[in-house]
Amino acid sequence: MKIAMLARNAGLFSHRRLKEAAEARGHELDIINTLRCYMNIASRRPEIYYNGEKLPKYDAVIPRIGASVTFYGLAVLRQFEMMGVYPLNESVAIGRSRDKLRSMQILAREGIGLPVTTFAHDPKQTEEVLRLAGGAPLVIKLLEGTQGIGVVLADTDRSAKSVIEAFRGANVNILVQEFIKESGGTDIRALVVGGKVVAAMKRSGAEGEFRSNLHRGGSATTIKISPEERSTAIRAAKAMGLNMCGVDMLRANHGPVVMEVNSSPGLEGVEKATGIDIAGLAIEFLAKEAKPGKTKTRGKG
Ligand SMILES: Nc1ncnc2c1ncn2[C@@H]1O[C@H](COP(=O)(O)OP(=O)(O)OP(=O)(O)O)[C@@H](O)[C@H]1O
Ligand SMILES: [Mg+2]
Repeated sequence: MKIAMLARNAGLFSHRRLKEAAEARGHELDIINTLRCYMNIASRRPEIYYNGEKLPKYDAVIPRIGASVTFYGLAVLRQFEMMGVYPLNESVAIGRSRDKLRSMQILAREGIGLPVTTFAHDPKQTEEVLRLAGGAPLVIKLLEGTQGIGVVLADTDRSAKSVIEAFRGANVNILVQEFIKESGGTDIRALVVGGKVVAAMKRSGAEGEFRSNLHRGGSATTIKISPEERSTAIRAAKAMGLNMCGVDMLRANHGPVVMEVNSSPGLEGVEKATGIDIAGLAIEFLAKEAKPGKTKTRGKG
């Protein structure tokens, strides 16, 4: 197979691993800087140019599009799809996963467990939003936050109200969520590849920290998940339409609740914690599935 990987930083652990895994299995993998692609959107002759040359025909494309370049990155990926190149994750599915509210609506529609989550645009609704979310303690999140930045725990209704008002004053979108206290500063990430959970890790926050992000000093260990957690992760991946993703869950008293589905999961933490060759499994999935013109949407939607 000839594989293109859309990524900006060729040196990143996950990107190096995917390249190694492809080459170890006799495939060719070119890392293409997403932002340096330019396109010709001519009728019926979709083309992509890179460094002054037209890109050759690829069998598969691995999108590793960073959150900050979603808009342009998805346009480039759609162009690959229009050319009939099989994507590890489709542009439409990645687009869904990048919008936290839309993702939660999709998961809710499928009956997947979620923390009670509320959202309102109008600051006059603050009290009502607090009430709907069940009152303090509450977690308030910036919609565009990552790596735990912009995730705040408010212990009382009064502090929740002032945090909400501060975020609103800064003109940013937020959601207000029930605090799953019983998860004890720990979350579970299940890696799904091709409709199966191939690895799972438990992330625990540093002492005194409710956020378990590795970037916030959290640590990862391998974990055996319950059948219910496994099926929740698989159903979440399917609802989002993602072939490869990381499903983040909290262990609530009433069962697993999904916090987020990540369409470009980092491989370093989970491969090191579990010893599983996830990059290899992703490449093997592509080798099995990638056929010309097999993309479902061909860039539509
Ligand atoms: N409702 C909640 N109850 C308990 N803990 C939570 C809740 N929401 C988030 N957390 C903790 O805070 C951490 C960060 O939250 P979250 O994953 O939503 O934001 P993020 O990591 O900044 O965003 P992203 O995952 O989109 O990069 C979670 O990993 C979890 O440990
Ligand atoms: Mg997170």
